[in-house]
Amino acid sequence: MMNRKLEIDYIEYDSLDELEPQDKELCEAAERALKGSYAPYSHFNVGAAVRLADGSIVTGANQENSAYPSGLCAERTAMFAAHANHPGTPMTAIAITGAQNGALNSGITAPCGACRQVMAEYQKVSGVKWTVLFYGKDKILKFHQVDDILPFIFTNLD
Ligand code: THU
Repeated sequence: MMNRKLEIDYIEYDSLDELEPQDKELCEAAERALKGSYAPYSHFNVGAAVRLADGSIVTGANQENSAYPSGLCAERTAMFAAHANHPGTPMTAIAITGAQNGALNSGITAPCGACRQVMAEYQKVSGVKWTVLFYGKDKILKFHQVDDILPFIFTNLD
């Protein structure tokens, strides 16, 4: 028997201007992606931006449907679009943000469990640890790998 402890290192910022330029750019892309959110049921808009290894950015926003389970989160919309359109180019980072009533949320919008699982798998496929950014107007969190927001992922890729 062994007692073990997990520790997570992450950085907390108060403003976008404190971020490194490429992280700031990714957060701003996630914010711009909010325009594509279709959320007439929850009125909760989510934007996501994925960085690819060639430096380009692919964005997504949440898409809802009157048949509720048919919708999709912003993060998966972005990651699936990235892989579908650039299958040979690994993803290296993701930024997520949320808004309500036309205003960016001041606190963070953290991804759901299903989106974390998808991030974890694409990170594994990419072969590099991703930067993960939760972007709120007055608080931004930066994680250094998807493992830090979802340890012990399910995988059959080993
Ligand atoms: N949503 C996301 O886009 N990402 C998440 O990680 C969690 C939730 C969306 C789904 C739905 O359109 C709205 O937020 C409210 O749940």
